[in-house]
Amino acid sequence: MGRVKVSLSVLLLALVWSLVNPIHTCSDFNIIEATIQDIQASFTRNDLSSKQLVDFYLHQIHSLNPTLRAVLEINPHARDQADEADNERRQLQSLGMLHGIPVLLKDSIGTKDKMNTTAGSYALVGSKVARDAHVVKKLRDAGAVILGKASLTEWYGSRSSLMPDAWCARGGFAVNPYVEWGNPCGSSYGSAISVATNMVAVSLGTETDGSIICPADHNSVVGIKPTVGLTSRAGVIPISPRQDTIGPICRTVADAVHVLDVIVGVDPRDYEATASAAKFIPPGGYKQFLNTEGLKGKKVGVVRKPFLNPYNKSIAISIFDHHLNVLRERGATVLDNLEIENISTILDPFQSGEAIVLLAEFKLSINNYLQELLFSPVRSLAEIIEFNFKYPDLEMTNEYGQDYLIASEMTSGLGHEENEAVEMMEQISQNGFEKLMKENQLDALVTLGSDVSMMLAIGGYPAITVPAGYDSQGMPFGICFGGLKGTEPKLIEIAYDFEQATRARKPPTFYLPEEI
Ligand SMILES: *[C@@H]1O[C@H](CO)[C@@H](O)[C@H](O)[C@H]1NC(C)=O
Ligand SMILES: *[C@@H]1O[C@H](CO)[C@@H](O)[C@H](O)[C@H]1NC(C)=O
Ligand SMILES: *[C@@H]1O[C@H](CO)[C@@H](O)[C@H](O)[C@H]1NC(C)=O
Repeated sequence: MGRVKVSLSVLLLALVWSLVNPIHTCSDFNIIEATIQDIQASFTRNDLSSKQLVDFYLHQIHSLNPTLRAVLEINPHARDQADEADNERRQLQSLGMLHGIPVLLKDSIGTKDKMNTTAGSYALVGSKVARDAHVVKKLRDAGAVILGKASLTEWYGSRSSLMPDAWCARGGFAVNPYVEWGNPCGSSYGSAISVATNMVAVSLGTETDGSIICPADHNSVVGIKPTVGLTSRAGVIPISPRQDTIGPICRTVADAVHVLDVIVGVDPRDYEATASAAKFIPPGGYKQFLNTEGLKGKKVGVVRKPFLNPYNKSIAISIFDHHLNVLRERGATVLDNLEIENISTILDPFQSGEAIVLLAEFKLSINNYLQELLFSPVRSLAEIIEFNFKYPDLEMTNEYGQDYLIASEMTSGLGHEENEAVEMMEQISQNGFEKLMKENQLDALVTLGSDVSMMLAIGGYPAITVPAGYDSQGMPFGICFGGLKGTEPKLIEIAYDFEQATRARKPPTFYLPEEI
């Protein structure tokens, strides 16, 4: 603990220093908490260049990241890409919202450049992807600047039951910027910490079960977990084609929506899922739903048991109740104390079947991913396991183990047991979440935290998490709006109006010792 305190004091000094650093303010423009819209307005006024913005974020990363350990790599071409964006801006009139905006990618999202794509593991250092992930290509086409790669729970936490949430071999332990002992939560913690501490403008994370919602919740930022298939997974290190989804983690709902608008769409390399979800993408995109009257006429449901149980003794409950009143005041109907049949089955990965199926799907998907690489030190799950045994010091194999990887390796495809488990998940989703939403004609289910993630994960449903407050110890928590497939427009209206009415997010002041 003492060591952590010292390093956090250093972090604080870095923050204080960076607050008085002139790079921060270009005329009347303050870069801390700057939104995409603020940045674009400054670009237009010629108050700020993309290159200055990249330099600001690099400076911020160099000051804060040694303590927070949220960023794994910097793109050596980031400044050149920013230059290019600045040149384009001089020549072209109307550029998209992400043009010239620095983006950080979770380190499982493939980039065909000088950077590594490793899911936090040394086993994939030096591997070469055949092409950019589809979401990365879309970002580049939109003129975004790829700033670097963000840390994550190694292999998304699918390596071992003993491995800490906030750890990967390449990055070490990450730190929650709000509370020194607080968990930043996996697996997209690097993306969430980075935007929370203004180390980048916006970021991408991925979710199989909770990996966007939870880190957004724990680091007081906005996360959008899109309906599975809305964003292509091609070129992203996989776990499950049924559950994986790529989404934005940003400081505001509007920023996240601007990113979402760029990354959604059909991809021939992830055809089945993206073609099937394409019907959900509204003409004109999602930004039209950034509506400050978005709560008017909406109907939202609250299931307290078991989702609010973790907050039993916390002030979070009274803040949540206050927020429900905000929803009502803004014109929404709140149906409280609803119940979901067989909820304990839905939330138990062994009973729901999720655990069984993910183990089998991971082996199939990761082997496929590894085989498609142009170069890789490992070509199969078996070789990853071998690598971990061979380099126990690098991968802390003796300390953290790899039981999940080994269990996954023991599976042999989707057999009878797995297919039954898939059917089970479909059935409990129909009889659980779908039934709740349809019978009560709900636009969203409102919960605190991220315990709802498993129910949404097994059915491929979307969710948006928005900062909701801080408990008595300063630990952030979010409010999560979950909906049926393809209902992002409604969820965005609700989340945006809620955010504008409450403005709960505060940038971290880090750990402030009394004497400073
Ligand atoms: C990728 O990993 C290699 C090996 O550790 C390293 O030399 C290189 O600098 C990494 N790339 C970047 C952009 O950090
Ligand atoms: C508090 O949580 C426990 C489970 O942890 C639950 O059984 C109990 O009903 C909760 N109490 C209230 C007042 O909701
Ligand atoms: C709830 O679970 C029980 C026992 O597994 C099962 O018989 C019943 O059909 C389930 N109910 C629903 C609505 O799925």
